[in-house]
Amino acid sequence: MTLFKGWEGPDSLAEIMQEIFVTGGAGFIGSAFVRLLLDEISELRIRNFDALTYAGNLDNLEGLDGSRHSFIRGNIADSEAVLGALSENTYAVVNFAAESHVDRSIANAAEFLTTNIVGTQVLLDAARERGVKRFIQVSTDEVMGSLPENEDVFFTEKSPFQPNSPYAASKAAAEHLVRAAHETFGLDTVVTRCGNNYGPRQFPEKFLPLALSNALNDQPIPVYGDGRNVRDWIYVDDHCRALLLAMEKGRAGAVYNIGARNERPNIEVVESLLKTLGKPKSLIRFVKDRPGHDRRYALDPSLIETELGWRPQETWESGLEKTIEWYRQNTQWLERAKSGAYRDYYREQYGEEVSAG
Ligand SMILES: NC(=O)c1ccc[n+]([C@@H]2O[C@H](COP(=O)([O-])OP(=O)(O)OC[C@H]3O[C@@H](n4cnc5c(N)ncnc54)[C@H](O)[C@@H]3O)[C@@H](O)[C@H]2O)c1
Repeated sequence: MTLFKGWEGPDSLAEIMQEIFVTGGAGFIGSAFVRLLLDEISELRIRNFDALTYAGNLDNLEGLDGSRHSFIRGNIADSEAVLGALSENTYAVVNFAAESHVDRSIANAAEFLTTNIVGTQVLLDAARERGVKRFIQVSTDEVMGSLPENEDVFFTEKSPFQPNSPYAASKAAAEHLVRAAHETFGLDTVVTRCGNNYGPRQFPEKFLPLALSNALNDQPIPVYGDGRNVRDWIYVDDHCRALLLAMEKGRAGAVYNIGARNERPNIEVVESLLKTLGKPKSLIRFVKDRPGHDRRYALDPSLIETELGWRPQETWESGLEKTIEWYRQNTQWLERAKSGAYRDYYREQYGEEVSAG
């Protein structure tokens, strides 16, 4: 029996067919992961635990099979709520929940420390208490700081931590806690570090959907500094397929870089977008650089390629086309996200205002 495409061993078939606890699954990557799991593993049930901050959007979960996916609103820093939602049948906790926007962390780091650090520890403790088999921590290349430009060097899993923003520092701290839970208590953990994701349903304050949305509306596109900051881009579903493999076959205690060998300066990303959309470069506006703006991220993904056999399925061009097509087809999603209309839905649903994060 094939458990999911690419699956090779029956070892954990019985275990994995129980339940997965996804945190932050109403966000950009978490919701893509939930969709992938439901598509790929036929018997699996998912509990999706999300605080619905400004970045969480129930529109992202539209159309999911309610018999296999349940949504629970809760904060990962609230141990009572986490323990109340986490069942003993849980095979794995996959932790996406985070404050994730660097600019917001520069303006105010408090929420980043509570969610990204305290929240991770709460989840680790709850996972042990409930006898969860695996804990997957979704981390970022940003914990390793910045690489020199124009040099053939890449982040490996052994690169030192050198976080440069409060966001990156909080994610680095969370990784330390995950490692400590593995070393001290023997919790079966896997940490993944990914580069910049792009794809459907990304909140339009982030670079690529902001540029895309502005371009579609013929509005100026802000680009920090000289636009030469380099990011390693990956299509969101490729990231999620790597996470699925890491959850299934990753070594206990391991860290895996997830990258598609797709380094691009920001300005090139915007130019690719404009070209595909047939819009003029005159929409580009260079704006004052972000303080402490990392110059270059680039991941060496050899370990996950050789150990788990992962490869990205999308090229930059095919991923970008899918992304643009999705935003074109889903203008209502975009408008609701931009205008905050989705918050009215929360209010109706929950009778309260959503935290501004
Ligand atoms: N977006 C990227 O390019 C990227 C790259 C590498 C790693 N990551 C990591 O992937 C994860 C998901 O990123 P994303 O881009 O989907 O983020 P996102 O901001 O779109 O989603 C975050 C989700 O977490 C929820 N959340 C926030 N605080 C919470 C709390 N205290 N309790 C419960 N839920 C809470 C939000 O409501 C939201 O649904 C993050 O951990 C991030 O650090 C993201």
